[in-house]
Amino acid sequence: MIRLFTDRFILTPGPTEIPDRVRLAMIREVTNPDLDPGFLELYKGVVGKLGRILGARRSSVYVMLGEAMLGLEAAIANLVRRGDKVLVVDNGVYGEGFADLVRMYGGEPILLGADWRRSADPSEVERALERNPGVKLVTVVHCDTPSAILNPVEEIARIAGEHGALTVVDAVSTVGAVPVDVDGAGIDILVGGSQKALNTPPGLTIVTVSERAWEEMERTGYEGFYLNLRLWKGIPEERGEFPYTMSDPLIRALDEALNMILEEGLENVYERHRRAREAAWRALEAAGLTPYPEDIEHSSPTVTAIEVPGGIDAEKLRELAWSRYGVMIAGSWGRLRGRVVRIGHMGVQASRNHLILGFTALARALSDMGYKVDAGRVVDAIEEAYSVSGS
Ligand SMILES: Cc1ncc(COP(=O)(O)O)c(C=O)c1O
Repeated sequence: MIRLFTDRFILTPGPTEIPDRVRLAMIREVTNPDLDPGFLELYKGVVGKLGRILGARRSSVYVMLGEAMLGLEAAIANLVRRGDKVLVVDNGVYGEGFADLVRMYGGEPILLGADWRRSADPSEVERALERNPGVKLVTVVHCDTPSAILNPVEEIARIAGEHGALTVVDAVSTVGAVPVDVDGAGIDILVGGSQKALNTPPGLTIVTVSERAWEEMERTGYEGFYLNLRLWKGIPEERGEFPYTMSDPLIRALDEALNMILEEGLENVYERHRRAREAAWRALEAAGLTPYPEDIEHSSPTVTAIEVPGGIDAEKLRELAWSRYGVMIAGSWGRLRGRVVRIGHMGVQASRNHLILGFTALARALSDMGYKVDAGRVVDAIEEAYSVSGS
C-alpha cells in the first residue's frame, strides 16, 4: 500500500512533528553564520525570546549546536570536579542517568532514590541535604520523559539554594510547554532541547547559566573545548564570535517555533498542554488502561506514559499502530522498556485532533491484539475533556 505523507503522524515524545512554519523557516534564506552580521541579530533575538519564556532575566541564555545531551554533559563537566558531592534526584531514567555523568567527571553522586511513579518530594531533598553537608550540586529532571513524571524543580532549586548548593535542571521535554522561572527559583543551569515541545529538528541545546554558576565554573576550571561553557561567556551581547560554526537553518527554525509560542501567548500554551494531559488521562480511563504515574498531578502535561496490559507485547503494539494506523507512538527505556508505551503531546501535538488520532490508533492496535477496548468511547472521552474546558 502506498502511504501518503499526510497519513503518517509522529506522536512520540520527541522528536516531534515539525509544523510547516518551522520547516519553511529553514529554507526561506540561508547565510554564512560566521560572516553575516544578520545572523548575530537573529541569534540575539532567539536568546531574548528564550529568556522571556524561561524567566532568565539575569541568567545568560545560549543555544549550542548539538543534542540536548551536549547541554547536560556540559553542565556537569563545567561544575563538577574530582570528589565533589552531587545529590542526584533519581525518580526516572534521566534522573538516574545524571549519576553516570557525575561519575565521568570524578564527582560522587548521592542518589536520592524515590518512587518512579511519583513526583520527587522537595522535603526529602531537604532532608538529604541536611544528612549530607557539603553537597555542591543538586540535579533534577523537570519531566522524566520515559515515565512522564513531572518534578517540582522550582521548589527543589529553592531548597538547594538555601543549603548553599547549585541546581542543574534537565528541562529537555518541558521548555515551551510547562512554565519555569529560572531566576525566580534560582536554577543555576537549565538545559532544554529543540526536538521536543519546540517542534524543531534535533540538533540544538538550550542552556541558561546563573551568576553563581559562572563563579563556580571559574573555580572548577574545566579545560575541554567543545563542552566548555566559559568559551561562550559574553556571546552575543559583548562578543559576536561563536566557538564553532552555528547552523543557520536550525536557528531560523527555532526562531519561528518561538514566534509561534509567543504569538499564541505563554499562558494559552501552558493551558493547552494541561488540557491535553487531562484529555489523555480521560482517554486512558475510557480504554480501561492504567497510566504509569500514580496520579495526574504527578504526570507531565507533555507526555502520557501508559502501562502495557499483561499479555501484550509493547514492540508489536507500536509496530501495529504505525503500520496499520500510521501513528508512531513510543516505547520506553531502561527498566520501563517493554512495560510502558508513550504518546507525546508536546507543542503542536497538544491538540484535540492529535490526541484523538494517537489514542484511537493505540486502542485499535490493542483491540487487534485481543485486548477489549472500544475506540469510540476513547474519542468521546477526549472530546468531552475539550468541551468541558470550553474549547
Ligand atoms: C528528559 C530528557 N533529557 C534528555 C534527553 C536527551 O535529549 P537528546 O536526545 O536530544 O540528546 C531526552 C530525550 O529524550 C529527555 O527526554
